[in-house]
Amino acid sequence: MKFFVDTAEIDAIAELNDLGMVDGVTTNPSLIKKSGRDIIEVTKEICDLVEGPVSAEVTAIDADTMIAEGRKLLEIAENITVKVPLTWDGLKACKTLSDAGHKVNVTLCFSANQALLAAKAGATFISPFIGRLDDINMDGMELIEDIRTVYDNYGFETEILAASIRTVNHILDSARIGADVITAPPAVIKSMISHPLTDKGLDAFLADIKAADIKIL
Ligand code: G3P
Repeated sequence: MKFFVDTAEIDAIAELNDLGMVDGVTTNPSLIKKSGRDIIEVTKEICDLVEGPVSAEVTAIDADTMIAEGRKLLEIAENITVKVPLTWDGLKACKTLSDAGHKVNVTLCFSANQALLAAKAGATFISPFIGRLDDINMDGMELIEDIRTVYDNYGFETEILAASIRTVNHILDSARIGADVITAPPAVIKSMISHPLTDKGLDAFLADIKAADIKIL
């Protein structure tokens, strides 16, 4: 499973990247707003830092402008993935850009039927939003399962990029189902390491190291 980091904060990306935890990055207009940075500048910095795909989202809602914006974003770096919303215009932009050999991430996916359309339009990634479905008392993980089944039934190569991940359980469940990629905020990825028995066990080892004066160096 690939780990993408869902943020435009350079320091947070760098910290996880140094640990080999970053296979790519996803951004969106809300994350760019939160960073307080210019979209082109911050996206270039991210692309310089990370080898894998960096999703940068268009701002237009009509296909022609989305395509023009996508082409401008693609000039930033070789590892840009153009992110478009799951609308007919978004799918038209997806088809044009993917036919031209570019990577496209189709975002704001809330149903398996939408995911099927995105795959047929040549999407490289489909981004189903787990947390936002859970927010309205639907089952985000069920959507990941459905898309996995539909894509596997027909051999679609579009990668399932589980997004809107809020908890470590979303990550584990996505891995169990076989999502190709998860994208999560840095804090959620970092909290995967937490376990009280690890802390308790380490405290006991440290106490014994001190009591027995165990030294290696
Ligand atoms: O990249 C988009 C997605 O991950 C958004 O997450 O928490 O705003 O629903 P969230």
